[in-house]
Amino acid sequence: MLVTGGAGFIGANFVRRTVATRPEYEVTVLDKLTYAGNRANLAGVDARLVVGDIADAALVDGLVADADVVVHFAAESHNDNSLRDPWPFVHTNLIGTYTLLEAVRKHGKRFHHVSTDEVFGDLELDDPNRFTETTAYNPSSPYSATKAGSDHLVRAWIRSFGIEATISNCSNNYGPYQHIEKFIPRQITNILSGISPKLYGTGEQVRDWIHVDDHNDAIHLILDKGALGETYIIGADNDHVNNKQVISLICELMGLGPDAYEHVNDRPGHDMRYAMDSTKLRTQLGWEPRFTDNETGMREGLEQTIAWYRDNQAWWAALKQQVEARYAQQGQ
Ligand SMILES: NC(=O)c1ccc[n+]([C@@H]2O[C@H](COP(=O)([O-])OP(=O)(O)OC[C@H]3O[C@@H](n4cnc5c(N)ncnc54)[C@H](O)[C@@H]3O)[C@@H](O)[C@H]2O)c1
Repeated sequence: MLVTGGAGFIGANFVRRTVATRPEYEVTVLDKLTYAGNRANLAGVDARLVVGDIADAALVDGLVADADVVVHFAAESHNDNSLRDPWPFVHTNLIGTYTLLEAVRKHGKRFHHVSTDEVFGDLELDDPNRFTETTAYNPSSPYSATKAGSDHLVRAWIRSFGIEATISNCSNNYGPYQHIEKFIPRQITNILSGISPKLYGTGEQVRDWIHVDDHNDAIHLILDKGALGETYIIGADNDHVNNKQVISLICELMGLGPDAYEHVNDRPGHDMRYAMDSTKLRTQLGWEPRFTDNETGMREGLEQTIAWYRDNQAWWAALKQQVEARYAQQGQ
């Protein structure tokens, strides 16, 4: 199995899970080790790491030729960065995906494309609708526009060239190994560092959070049983929980009062509401998320995630000052 972006947040969790539970796979990771990729995410894992770019056609051709299955996580993934400098997003998310597709087409290999709910744009806060596999694309940022473009490339390569591929669009993930620039680990590491947690704007945004292990189990299920050419929505039905509730729950789980956070500037163009309808994945493939307890569906997953950041300070401490300095420049 070739896993692109396997040294990033979701990819590293996927590789760890695959190596631990699926001995039938021998895993090679192709990762450029950008600021978001980290060799330490794969420490002690029995997988080969090739450091390189998914847009390097010669490198990709050789690695795809040697694999049976390609699982494609590699991306530029941070919305804020895409507003500052969109080029790496065009390069990796579009040209990189194109390069992989051409190699998969040439060598006739199974391909799974990992994508996001952000391709659908956002919903109004009071809109009860959820995104489905047939929702029209309406991306808002350079990040989501390039991910949308990459989905369209995969669909076109399926339709035009008959490649054996599937696509999944998942809601916002949380869990171990997530870069501390992202909302949930930023708040956890703030509290662990004695800094107040920061809520963007009024905190009414809804993200339909899902634990990374639930996302990765769904990907394995799609690889095992998914119908070729199909798209599957992945979501854990947390579309009733807003950012303010998430930050309050983190505060409570870490021994602070539920409103022990600071309000900071909202992000420009901040999407309001994402909500995913994963009926197809649940009914056709039998997927169920494991982290679904209690009123927010997040207590157990957040407890586990908080424990991981508490126990792994060496993994994030050196980055903390730099990440907070950058947010401070944006008034966040
Ligand atoms: N994080 C989420 O909540 C979420 C939700 C749904 C879907 N996704 C998708 O899942 C995938 C993984 O997301 P993540 O949060 O783990 O991202 P991440 O930013 O943590 O990791 C991305 C990885 O890709 C690597 N990479 C970047 N450019 C590369 C290139 N040109 N060549 C090779 N490697 C390159 C980076 O070094 C990094 O290891 C992305 O495709 C993202 O769109 C993420």
